[in-house]
Amino acid sequence: MQTTQKKPILEARGIVKVLGAPGTEFTVLKGVDVELFPGELTLLMGPSGSGKTTLLSILGCILTPTAGELEIKGERAHGLGPEALADIRRRHVGFVFQSYNLFPTLTAVENVMLALDVRHGAERGATERATEALKSVGLGHRINAYPSKLSGGEKQRVAIARALSGRGSVVLADEPTAALDSENGRGVMELMARVSQDPTRAVLAVTHDHRTLSYADRIIHIEDGRIAGEERPKIDGQRRTQVHGAPLPAAEPAPAAPPVVAAPVRSEPRLVEVTSTAEPTTEAGGGQLKLRRRRSA
Ligand SMILES: Nc1ncnc2c1ncn2[C@@H]1O[C@H](COP(=O)(O)OP(=O)(O)OP(=O)(O)O)[C@@H](O)[C@H]1O
Ligand SMILES: [Mg+2]
Repeated sequence: MQTTQKKPILEARGIVKVLGAPGTEFTVLKGVDVELFPGELTLLMGPSGSGKTTLLSILGCILTPTAGELEIKGERAHGLGPEALADIRRRHVGFVFQSYNLFPTLTAVENVMLALDVRHGAERGATERATEALKSVGLGHRINAYPSKLSGGEKQRVAIARALSGRGSVVLADEPTAALDSENGRGVMELMARVSQDPTRAVLAVTHDHRTLSYADRIIHIEDGRIAGEERPKIDGQRRTQVHGAPLPAAEPAPAAPPVVAAPVRSEPRLVEVTSTAEPTTEAGGGQLKLRRRRSA
């Protein structure tokens, strides 16, 4: 059931994906409809092999659907060749992977800069943007660290900073907490929830982790390549776990504030009243902005 009046940032209709060699084809997705809305954290849950990663790859323009339609920010994203698809992906999508996907020979800030369209002469601005993104996820003091010197939680924060710095309106994460202990996992989910508070961004995270449910605006269940259900655990217009923190790099400049409308008084009890006080955005050492370029051997 869809209760929001917002216009979706991403709309997928009737997505079918057939994988495998001729003769051994396997229909992974069997007609999936998904809408992602700005300012929302949606979780995608389902058994192993149900098609979550395949669906995420199609929504993020890494794979093309066998059939069906995909629109991102009003742009058609199906039936395109590899270059046009990559162009949409670069402009609109940021990815966070379970295994971080950081280059071991690049520092944190250089890994984030990979997401930026760095052209000749634009490197200075890119360094500043990447540094700002790292500061916003609490890693201002680790910009020159190599991945081998970062904890799992810190590596995932670098990956999130990379996804944000490209200014994509759609942030997709495939089991972002699976490799993390519970404290780091909670920090990363709080960060994802904060990212989704940007009114110009939609966040979709695949998860098996039931501890992440309290951060969700919406949960989509997938089974055997089909959407099996959807729920909105929000109560009284609030996420069940509130997240706070300094602003993160936005996909777009914030729109003019809408007129304030008094919320209707609701008498139902809250299911959960958890207020998270963890603050992942400490900007310790944020003054070390000067980067030394390493010469390649
Ligand atoms: N290249 C491929 N060729 C054939 N079948 C594939 C291919 N890639 C994935 N599959 C199958 O498609 C199904 C869905 O895979 P997918 O990776 O999307 O599942 P998932 O829901 O992400 O699972 P998990 O929770 O284990 O990550 C699985 O049965 C998988 O074996
Ligand atoms: Mg998967």
